[in-house]
Amino acid sequence: MMKKTIFSISGSLRSGSSNHNILKFLSAIVPADVTYTIYNNLGQIPPFDPGLDDETPPEAVTELRNLINQADAVIICTPEYAFGVPGQLKNALDWLVSSSTLVDKPVSLITASSVGNNAHASLLLTLGALSANVIEEAILLIPFIRAKMDTEGNVTDKPTKESLENAFNNLLAQL
Ligand SMILES: Cc1cc2nc3c(=O)[nH]c(=O)nc-3n(C[C@H](O)[C@H](O)[C@H](O)COP(=O)(O)O)c2cc1C
Repeated sequence: MMKKTIFSISGSLRSGSSNHNILKFLSAIVPADVTYTIYNNLGQIPPFDPGLDDETPPEAVTELRNLINQADAVIICTPEYAFGVPGQLKNALDWLVSSSTLVDKPVSLITASSVGNNAHASLLLTLGALSANVIEEAILLIPFIRAKMDTEGNVTDKPTKESLENAFNNLLAQL
């Protein structure tokens, strides 16, 4: 039997990012029969240009589309910047509109930020526009994220750990 695949994307490019560390936390609880990858090329996606969105889009875009196409589920884990979705994440999502890459794909959305509710709401709208299958029980808004981690990037807040495990298990149930 083919292994199931979960593809995860952090909306933060920052070294030591809390969102990246959340994705690493999840990697530790992946069942043996699931392949889990953390995307590390978000910074290489060029600015969205509908004029370049033809049969030969930029290479990094094709790679991202292929990785998502091959995945059985996707996790998006992101902070909020200036009351909105980080530009690099929104930019990547814009490249996915015409290719229908996320249509019906089970998606878990985790917004981990100081507050985060604006980016969270905005992303839910965008994922709706992309016809993604956002799994209600795998949606999580984590405010005050920095206070819930230690300096090594481990999630230390017990309720947050439990919520993450729950959301992850609910996504796994879709595979
Ligand atoms: C330029 C900038 C703008 C920010 N604006 C917001 C904001 O509007 N809302 C919010 O909840 N957090 C905001 N933050 C705080 C981030 O949520 C916080 O730094 C978070 O830890 C970033 O995620 P990361 O640790 O994964 O990089 C902002 C941070 C930066 C650097």
